[in-house]
Amino acid sequence: MRTALALILALAAFSAVSAQQAGTITAETHPTLTIQQCTQSGGCAPLTTKVVLDVNWRWIHSTTGYTNCYSGNTWDAILCPDPVTCAANCALDGADYTGTFGILPSGTSVTLRPVDGLGLRLFLLADDSHYQMFQLLNKEFTFDVEMPNMRCGSSGAIHLTAMDADGGLAKYPGNQAGAKYGTGFCSAQCPKGVKFINGQANVEGWLGTTATTGTGFFGSCCTDIALWEANDNSASFAPHPCTTNSQTRCSGSDCTADSGLCDADGCNFNSFRMGNTTFFGAGMSVDTTKLFTVVTQFITSDNTSMGALVEIHRLYIQNGQVIQNSVVNIPGINPATSITDDLCAQENAAFGGTSSFAQHGGLAQVGEALRSGMVLALSIVNSAADTLWLDSNYPADADPSAPGVARGTCPQDSASIPEAPTPSVVFSNIKLGDIGTTFGAGSALFSGRSPPGPVPGSAPASSATATAPPFGSQCGGLGYAGPTGVCPSPYTCQALNIYYSQCI
Ligand SMILES: *[C@@H]1O[C@H](CO)[C@@H](O)[C@H](O)[C@H]1NC(C)=O
Ligand SMILES: *[C@@H]1O[C@H](CO)[C@@H](O)[C@H](O)[C@H]1NC(C)=O
Repeated sequence: MRTALALILALAAFSAVSAQQAGTITAETHPTLTIQQCTQSGGCAPLTTKVVLDVNWRWIHSTTGYTNCYSGNTWDAILCPDPVTCAANCALDGADYTGTFGILPSGTSVTLRPVDGLGLRLFLLADDSHYQMFQLLNKEFTFDVEMPNMRCGSSGAIHLTAMDADGGLAKYPGNQAGAKYGTGFCSAQCPKGVKFINGQANVEGWLGTTATTGTGFFGSCCTDIALWEANDNSASFAPHPCTTNSQTRCSGSDCTADSGLCDADGCNFNSFRMGNTTFFGAGMSVDTTKLFTVVTQFITSDNTSMGALVEIHRLYIQNGQVIQNSVVNIPGINPATSITDDLCAQENAAFGGTSSFAQHGGLAQVGEALRSGMVLALSIVNSAADTLWLDSNYPADADPSAPGVARGTCPQDSASIPEAPTPSVVFSNIKLGDIGTTFGAGSALFSGRSPPGPVPGSAPASSATATAPPFGSQCGGLGYAGPTGVCPSPYTCQALNIYYSQCI
């Protein structure tokens, strides 16, 4: 006992002025990942970024040696008696990217596998100590994805999150490691499992289970956009506003989903849930057995980067064909293809959700985070319990045929999900740029010359004919190659957005 006390005092004295320190046992060497930045006038040009591993997957040990500060889901009682002392006593060490984590960016692609069996998260850096900030109003974001063995119970994801550019280094004196070591994660889930928040170790009420002291438990909140959460069964994209966009520590009821600081549920577009069960999956309109491209466009009120965010538009490209997002086919919801405040309100009404999205500021609030700049997080989750919301009927006791309940065909009972090979997801050819510049004619690498022409083609090919089936078929929109405005009586061609007009 005396030894332990002496150790605490010695450690506290040794590191009284610094905290959440950087370890030196493994050098932190960030692998590079080249992305593309595209403009109307200049075409696409390479932008060199680096990838950095999130703190949560790092070895955290005593600053003076090799003693684990955290192991087996618990904090060491001697090194970590409280949040501040723990941050002072403990260091985050460098990551062995190519070895332990098997992260082998090959120039323009990165492959993620769940390292501890459960998951992994990486962020993009602009330089060794700052995240790459994505300001995407009136812009689009594009990537290719391949999903070998991404079965039921797994999810490969890309999020934009309103983290601090330096990982909170300047804001929190306790944080000495910063973006270089992947600090500062936050999301609209206000995750309680973030190991360091505000430069302090998250030791009190760890994981929200027990409140060991008066302050209870903490989470790390901020606005995020789930650009992509998918396996080979289902895909979802969803903006999630928080009343305070930037990283904020919550405690107690502020951490509560939807009624706290953030809209945890978000306004979600999952084609299956939205009434098209044959759009996304193996052999479907977007065939998950092969590489495809995902384009997300952030449309503003005035078509400039000064405007408010009013629409998040999704396109897919596969085998050289542009595939318009599926059209909502749910009673009580207009047949939209994009996320707008209108769709979100109708979705809540039809699915019996809360109006938490609107209450937290809706798309406009999410747009303000995009104006300031958001950090890109690439992740993989391998946990049936954590992906039921994505790919199964949810919740289990609800009637799966009720609108909005089933999100995919995966079993609700995780025990009945067959053993699958280790999942992995490959993200590649990440691009950002002016609307219409990152794909089709605009996507030629280093083209640097002519501005892109109209987007070629429009899938499915069958809809691009004059004899298209009546209700619901496409009849116009930016990049649509078929006959414009042609609808059989009694339907008329109505613009759902600038990219999609439909016979309604
Ligand atoms: C699902 O989407 C595909 C591709 O857009 C379309 O051909 C099909 O008719 C849609 N099905 C329903 C039920 O909306
Ligand atoms: C934005 O651009 C679209 C497509 O060109 C156009 O239909 C729309 O009217 C524009 N909106 C504004 C406010 O300029």
